[in-house]
Amino acid sequence: MSDKRVTIFDTTLRDGEQCPGASMNLREKSEVARQLARLRVDVIEAGFPVISEGDFEAVQVIAREIKGPVICGLARCVPRDIDAAGEAVKPAGRRGRIHVFLATSKIHREFKLGKAQDEILRLAVDGVKRARGLVEDVEFSPEDGSRTEPDFLIQICRAVVAAGARTVNIPDTVGWAVPDQYAALIGQLHESVPEFRTGKAIISVHCHNDLGLAVANSLAAVRAGARQVECTVIGIGERAGNAALEEIVMALRTRSDFFGGATCGVHAPEILKSSRMVSRMSGLLVQRSKAIVGENAFAHSSGIHQDGILKRRETYEIMDPQDVGWGGTELPLTKHSGRAAMAARLKHLGFNMGESEVAALFAQFKTIGDKKKFVYDEDLSALVEGHITEVPETWSLDYLSVTTGNHTVPTATVRLRKPGVKGCARQEAATGDGPVDAVVKAMDRITEVSGQLKDYSLRAVSQGEDALGEVTLKAMFGNGDLQTGKGASTDVIEASARAYLNAVNRHLGSGHAKAARLAHP
Ligand code: KIV
Ligand code: ZN
Repeated sequence: MSDKRVTIFDTTLRDGEQCPGASMNLREKSEVARQLARLRVDVIEAGFPVISEGDFEAVQVIAREIKGPVICGLARCVPRDIDAAGEAVKPAGRRGRIHVFLATSKIHREFKLGKAQDEILRLAVDGVKRARGLVEDVEFSPEDGSRTEPDFLIQICRAVVAAGARTVNIPDTVGWAVPDQYAALIGQLHESVPEFRTGKAIISVHCHNDLGLAVANSLAAVRAGARQVECTVIGIGERAGNAALEEIVMALRTRSDFFGGATCGVHAPEILKSSRMVSRMSGLLVQRSKAIVGENAFAHSSGIHQDGILKRRETYEIMDPQDVGWGGTELPLTKHSGRAAMAARLKHLGFNMGESEVAALFAQFKTIGDKKKFVYDEDLSALVEGHITEVPETWSLDYLSVTTGNHTVPTATVRLRKPGVKGCARQEAATGDGPVDAVVKAMDRITEVSGQLKDYSLRAVSQGEDALGEVTLKAMFGNGDLQTGKGASTDVIEASARAYLNAVNRHLGSGHAKAARLAHP
């Protein structure tokens, strides 16, 4: 591989999923992984296999089904973790990677681990050797690397490379670094470890965004010799998130002159689709002014700018929006479109749907088609993603009626059913501060759980007055279980009701609710 090639390591499904309320089910993770493969990232970090059965299964399924990228599983420097990661990535064969990490900074050594430098060094080497016994491709991360004493960091890098690590990742775990200083550290490591200079091993960077510098730090590190960047789609991740993949990729492309001709293999036209999918699946909305993928990223409002653009696009645009997937809208479908047309459009949008799923979606498509003149790609994506994000339904919505107005106490009547339990339907009515509050209260009475809305957003999925409304909300249930709920409908109150019920069903299917039932049967 050319020494100018930067490996794009996507950790949306691992670090990204650590973002509170962003957890995804297996189906959601598989669809995101499929999209990441279409985006042609080099490495997918699919999860942390030892952490739960669900994480193990997700990594294993992705390793089995996704062709193209390297599939990576995270592990602490302990045998149990490393073995679980090795087992989970096994189906990927030679494309399997184990990513082992251990904290190295003084503050972590003293207060978190209670271990001295020589013990850390020994554990790191043992961990890498164990992982190398399972796969050829091993990455090591000295956690909190940016705050580790540089001399000790050099020692660690030399030792883990000698033990067989091909990639050494220097995480800015707490988002503390600033570009010049981080680049100087990466440059120092590049000079001090012979294998980094010869290309036998590479330096990776993994930057968090606590000071809003994750992308700037990553790019500065590339200039200093880093050849792998760890990032997430739309920058989701722990706390303020990770470096945003789309910004890294487009900065490298657009300013390749400044980055010494550095390139990456990402297929940029898939960027917008990837960001929309990750946003829907994680329930984290993209701000309008977000670079590359925000609604306003290529919107020019001032007359002077519009005039310039009309004369020559490059006067005010440094990237062509079509290069990252904007524009090129196809003819919308209508209620007259047949099942084959809908299935073809689904395929074009990148969804991998079975026969029975297409049939179920076609029924929903017809219902929407009756209410809306045109069914746009975005409407269809919302339908599919609503279908994918469905969780096993403890309760399903059967009937909803809401009265509201400026001189009326908002009142909701809701009937829910337990699918699969014949004759089990319950109906309740409630008043609330607003129509959504009334719906939530009525549902809580039926389901006997109590949720508190923490976050609520409504967006029009496509254009026009009859646009589909998509609600994404977060609800906190009694014992600290934060769940995301999503729902779409041409009626915003119905979309809200579906979203809240989606969160309730996620809660009821989660370990939290099961634990609460055991404690208070
Ligand atoms: O931020 C961090 O240090 C991490 C490591 C596990 C790489 O996510
Ligand atoms: Zn991280």
